[in-house]
Amino acid sequence: MLIRFKKNFEKIAMGLLSFMQEGKDIKKLQETIKEYETNPDWHLYLWKEDDVLGAIGLKIEAGGKAIIQHISVNPSHRNAGIGKKMVNEIHQMYQEKYTVCANERTNQFYQKCETNDEI
Ligand SMILES: CC(C)(COP(=O)(O)OP(=O)(O)OC[C@H]1O[C@@H](n2cnc3c(N)ncnc32)[C@H](O)[C@@H]1OP(=O)(O)O)[C@@H](O)C(=O)NCCC(=O)NCCS
Repeated sequence: MLIRFKKNFEKIAMGLLSFMQEGKDIKKLQETIKEYETNPDWHLYLWKEDDVLGAIGLKIEAGGKAIIQHISVNPSHRNAGIGKKMVNEIHQMYQEKYTVCANERTNQFYQKCETNDEI
């Protein structure tokens, strides 16, 4: 299930976001997590089963867009549908109020979800 990010999951969230391309830069990663903690328009969720296995983050923009800007799954748990489930749940949560979309960093996988009619 998707749960809202909390400070006590900071390390695991940083670990997950580090699998994205810009995550190799530790300073940038810390700034990103800080933004999720402090900016009310940035929303980060974690996929939790027994352990936290994935992260998905979005930014609300003026004009009613909810932009998925981070998505990452623990490498040991990939190709099991977690990525698609996270995208799908975000759609269910946000689509009534916002236009959900991706950015240049998440678009490739987002398109894949759309192609498979997952969303
Ligand atoms: C992208 C990511 C979140 C997918 O998570 P996942 O839980 O493995 O995804 P799912 O199991 O729901 O879906 C797997 C499908 O997505 C495809 N896929 C994986 N990464 C993809 C990508 N970057 N672009 C397009 N398709 C991708 C797989 O090939 C697989 O295809 P299939 O169903 O035809 O076999 C995961 O691979 C990841 O964390 N990657 C590193 C972080 C990253 O690069 N994020 C940005 C992605 S644009």
